[in-house]
Amino acid sequence: NINSVAARAHTNIALIKYWGKRDEKLYLPTSTSLSLTLDSLYTDTRVSFDNDLDKDVLYINGELQDEKSTEKVVKVINLFRCRYVADDSPYIRVESYNHVPTAAGLASSSSGFAALSFALRALFENQYLPESDSIDLMNDTELSAFARQGSGSATRSIFGGFVEWVYGTGSSDSVAVPIDDGDWDVAMILAAVSTQRKKISSTYGMKHTAETSAFYPLWKQVSEEDLRVVREGIAERDIDKIGAAMEANCMKFHATMFAANPPFTYLTARSFEIIEYVHELRDSGLSVYFTMDAGPNVKILCRKSERQEIHDKIAQRFADITLFDAASGPAPHIMRD
Ligand code: DP6
Repeated sequence: NINSVAARAHTNIALIKYWGKRDEKLYLPTSTSLSLTLDSLYTDTRVSFDNDLDKDVLYINGELQDEKSTEKVVKVINLFRCRYVADDSPYIRVESYNHVPTAAGLASSSSGFAALSFALRALFENQYLPESDSIDLMNDTELSAFARQGSGSATRSIFGGFVEWVYGTGSSDSVAVPIDDGDWDVAMILAAVSTQRKKISSTYGMKHTAETSAFYPLWKQVSEEDLRVVREGIAERDIDKIGAAMEANCMKFHATMFAANPPFTYLTARSFEIIEYVHELRDSGLSVYFTMDAGPNVKILCRKSERQEIHDKIAQRFADITLFDAASGPAPHIMRD
């Protein structure tokens, strides 16, 4: 059925963080970020033209979302309508399933908007390309700029492996660039710390930080230095070089929030306990490094060949923490029924 398409896209974890927009409508970042797309966490999204609808609708894990929660999805759909000169196209039903432990706070908008964009491109090209000789095919680079406008981190999930989302000069070149397939001795372990705390969205957190943090002016500059080292580390396949720069970038990223007004942090005592243990494991000779995003969960970078040993040790030390093993994951793909 050409009126319905499903796609799968994988989440990514940033080694060099995206934290702040220079354009809040186009979602242009204040600095270049770099991530690893993961194999084991992903979102499946089906998009369908539906003549019976009087607006675009979104279901997440089977539940109809309200208008407010559907806004960004509609924004992205409208970019496709405009691109494919299909302003009078039927409304779209979006059904999204997260194969990401949502309750554990690892749910990511990155895989969601990447899957949505990947599916929409196929839906619109199936529908409108055969009848038109004026529409150009959309490549993955252009697609990443569309995903970006749903959620910044989704830009990078349009490719597999290590991916940069470059600063660019404007909307058409602030896009994802794949730099390495990650098909070597590199892996991640995600440590999901349970939390009762009210979540500050990353969208709000980065805006508040950019507007009020005394350290924010330094962020762009230091982040570029860390990025250079991580790039070198990837080219040399040097886990220790990548890990040290990734950790340093993570700490500077969280420091911008400690210096915001009013200050805030996503980190909890539990996060620091895991950090301390990562240091202990490293002192014992393992290559193991941490990073954290807009929540208390700790993401651990290590060698694939040492992942099981590290997993077992963390599991033994912290019985109440859920661990998810991951390695380099692929680009999105269309799912055939
Ligand atoms: C801390 O992509 O969720 O995970 O663009 O406002 O949707 P919006 O924000 P989002 O921010 C992710 C921030 C981060 C770092 C990163 O993934 O680079």
